[in-house]
Amino acid sequence: MHPWVAEHWLPLFDRLATEDHLVLDGVFDADILQALETSLHGHLTAGDLHKAGIGALADHQVDTTVRGDEVHWLDRGREPDLEPFFQRMEELLALLNRYCYLSLSGWEFHFAHYPPGTFYKRHRDQFRGRGNRLISVVLYLNRDRGPGDGGELRLFLPDEERLVEPLYGRLVLFKSDVLEHEVLPTRTDRYSLTGWLLHQPPGLGFLG
Ligand code: OGA
Ligand code: MN
Repeated sequence: MHPWVAEHWLPLFDRLATEDHLVLDGVFDADILQALETSLHGHLTAGDLHKAGIGALADHQVDTTVRGDEVHWLDRGREPDLEPFFQRMEELLALLNRYCYLSLSGWEFHFAHYPPGTFYKRHRDQFRGRGNRLISVVLYLNRDRGPGDGGELRLFLPDEERLVEPLYGRLVLFKSDVLEHEVLPTRTDRYSLTGWLLHQPPGLGFLG
């Protein structure tokens, strides 16, 4: 387990700074993961997930040759059961601000579902003209996932490529503006919570 104290996170932040990414298991306790799964399941049942687009605002378009997932953006005020998760994110954001001299002031999160056969081609997590995403956060919510299911996250690091299996409870952090990555075609349903830590609140980016 990862204790939420500075001494534990500082060496990890050093790695994030030098390697552009972090892959961590066992960060969240079972209650938080269970609450996320329950919320995700509710949104799936209610039909709240919609085909994801590429680009922001006027650029927004659905192109399933680029990405085939469907997403639901989270509204903190409507998800009281996810407060323990959001509190963890607040702690993470505060630690990053204090020790990495970032000026993070907000976030955006969505659930994502990749149905069998879908993928997300190589990209960076920045929209054109809207550079407020600093750190990408992906938390996988797939139980019973095994070799042969596909859907790995491929990270294009400077000297190598790294394949990350989307295993239950695994957290991946990476620098949104530098690290190119892709989601390989999945053979089974693939679920995650994906978000971005922002250096200004969402919705203001297009003004600047
Ligand atoms: C994204 C993304 C990676 C993943 O949503 O931008 O790259 O492993 N997700 O789900
Ligand atoms: Mn991405």
